[in-house]
Amino acid sequence: MLVNAKEMLIKAKREGYAVGHFNINNLEWAKSILLAAEENSSPVILGVSAGAAKYMTGFKTVTAMVKAMVESLNITVPVALHLDHGSFEQAIECIEAGFSSVMFDGSHDSIEENIAKTKEIITLAHNRGISVEAEVGAIGGDEDGITGGGEVANPNECKLIADLGVDMLAAGIGNIHGKYPENWKGLDFDTLAAIQFNTDEMPLVLHGGTGIPSEMVKKAISLGVAKINVNTECQIVFAEKVREYIEAGKDLSGKGFDPRKILAAPAEAIKQMVKTKMILFGSVNKA
Ligand code: 13P
Repeated sequence: MLVNAKEMLIKAKREGYAVGHFNINNLEWAKSILLAAEENSSPVILGVSAGAAKYMTGFKTVTAMVKAMVESLNITVPVALHLDHGSFEQAIECIEAGFSSVMFDGSHDSIEENIAKTKEIITLAHNRGISVEAEVGAIGGDEDGITGGGEVANPNECKLIADLGVDMLAAGIGNIHGKYPENWKGLDFDTLAAIQFNTDEMPLVLHGGTGIPSEMVKKAISLGVAKINVNTECQIVFAEKVREYIEAGKDLSGKGFDPRKILAAPAEAIKQMVKTKMILFGSVNKA
């Protein structure tokens, strides 16, 4: 069964750890992440971008696949299925398709428009027990075609959005989707502390989890971050292992490559990477 992300994040914030949000793109990624969570006895959030959902033929397919997989793999840890960086329309579509959590990303709208749309999504989602993530101040870099300007969020605007009753809040603090450039200045902890002060118990979300040094991750958690999003690192390990397999030339039978064998090592690599992240985030044995 899927659960929303609210309780798992409140517990994480209280106990000083973060729950990992790992993006999925196909069956193998979903399976690897679920198995990693179960083996680590850790709660987990499966993130789905609109682009990834389109690739998998739609939000309904994703819901059906993940629900069935949780059952057939006997997954007992809390699992949330979460829309990542959704538009207003996509958030509504996911609420109807059976997602247990949605992110409405109004960070590119004016703050007034962000507030109005976030409010509507909260009402629709909460009526069905679905948790809501909102965003203030775009995250830098490019996330599946959505480009952010790398702003740092205004802590007062964060309070306005938090007070609407969202369950978790993503706020730009110099974090970037994808790889960090050589000249990256690091996370803006003064802003993070000000946001945490203004929003009190609100679980904060750190996007762009790939490539942030471990010490910065730990400091961010100590300042109220309770959910950390990772996507690019899954892509990197997956691609590396596929390449290795093809280059090793295991097409010995003359029947072409066995697709299940090609994807076995990449899936295992994602599982191990996710388990390592869960140790860093402190969510092991917190299910
Ligand atoms: P990375 O791709 O940098 O890991 O960020 C993922 C993310 O924030 C998804 O919302």
